[in-house]
Amino acid sequence: MGYDLTKPSDPALAPGEARCPGPSTRDIIASDGDQVPPPLLEESYQFLGDADIAFNRYTSEDLYDREIRRVWSRTWQWACREEHIPNVGDYVVYDVGPYSIIVIRVAQHEIKGYVNSCLHRGMQLCDAGSQGQGKQFLRCPFHGFTWHLDGTLKEVPCRWDFPHLNEDEFNLPEVRVGLWGGFVFINMDPDAQDLMDYLEVLPNHFAHWPLQERFVAMHVEKVLPANWKMAIEAFLEAYHVLATHSEAVKTVGDANAQYDIFGENVTRFVHTIGYPSPHLRDQPSQEEQLQALGGGHLLEGSDKLPPGETARSLFAAFQRREFSKELGVDLSGVSTSEMLDSIEYFVFPNMFLFPGITIPMIYRFRPIDVDHCIHEILFLHPVPENGPRPPPAQKVRLEIEDSYSTVEGFNPGLAYVFDQDTDNLYRQRAGAKASVKGAQTLGNYQEARIRRLHMTLDNYLNT
Ligand code: FES
Ligand SMILES: [Fe+2]
Repeated sequence: MGYDLTKPSDPALAPGEARCPGPSTRDIIASDGDQVPPPLLEESYQFLGDADIAFNRYTSEDLYDREIRRVWSRTWQWACREEHIPNVGDYVVYDVGPYSIIVIRVAQHEIKGYVNSCLHRGMQLCDAGSQGQGKQFLRCPFHGFTWHLDGTLKEVPCRWDFPHLNEDEFNLPEVRVGLWGGFVFINMDPDAQDLMDYLEVLPNHFAHWPLQERFVAMHVEKVLPANWKMAIEAFLEAYHVLATHSEAVKTVGDANAQYDIFGENVTRFVHTIGYPSPHLRDQPSQEEQLQALGGGHLLEGSDKLPPGETARSLFAAFQRREFSKELGVDLSGVSTSEMLDSIEYFVFPNMFLFPGITIPMIYRFRPIDVDHCIHEILFLHPVPENGPRPPPAQKVRLEIEDSYSTVEGFNPGLAYVFDQDTDNLYRQRAGAKASVKGAQTLGNYQEARIRRLHMTLDNYLNT
């Protein structure tokens, strides 16, 4: 039996109170009947207003320049994983816009971030985007000014020519570094709030999903044809599933996905997998849903699920068995929702985290120019219980026209979905520029995370 999604919402409801008819995400997860981490049952929606958002926020060079100066230089961004720099002298260069930071392990338990610019005549000390191991010191390749790992000056060739150089004032300028969940974050603003405060509910929620116990099993980077905000927004809502990923409607709760606004920096959606879209007027049977999930073989020739089972419970049990074997970890205590659902947190300005097991992704977006950005996807798998921590995967680079399906080992179904999402961006970017209306009109509920992104952006632009 379907739901009529065309019905106007109840006029007695205040703006933003309307909800999709049908079972809520929370109801679906609760009806799985297993133990889920309490954050999965939290709801934290806020109505944030309904004004249009002008397209010049995506096209203005002027605004882009202000974002670079006021947002990207003042927010916490993850630069690398700790596993990328396990030993003293290991480093990664994190670049965003004109900024470049060397993130380097300077002692066993200490990581520092230095501005990647020589104090002599500005040469980059390390190549942009590079990483390396075991540096003893930082030596500029131009004239050889050299610093110790702790940032103090070690050597100036022809020291006699610099009698005016005060060594105490020639330490490498540092940026702030914070560690959480196995990630190394940097912030170029000395006055920024502490990382743990900035991350709002994340430390609390992710106490249930310790990402420091995972490793980078795959890392893909691709240039996308859109302003960084437009690209991010394509991943902040499940409203587009019906039109863009319509092949998924039998297995994806979309219109009834849950959206949470936890603060200025952190938002979330949870959309269920193995539960049909409320858009379907003829709801598929549990057996059909299991087939659509790719679990038809679990019926073992019968045309009925065993009593007490659902498509979700059977498929999650199958995934638990398969992934336990494949990953070398015990997943017996992991809930159905964590095995199946798309649970996605966003941290302003550019980090996405999926704590689930089946698609355990991290995204990072970085601007290139007003019309292009970089999108990275990392898969973080649990470290095997009885084995050493595998080394982090090397990054695979895709150019703007490349399909995700060309990446070896990338799940083909997921690659198809990412290609659909990123192909949309060409048309959206062009359409936004052609617009006479000049602005987008957002849904109050399903697109609230997009509005929150713009509100937080404005806080940085205006202060
Ligand atoms: S620019 Fe670095 S030593 Fe001259
Ligand atoms: Fe999508």
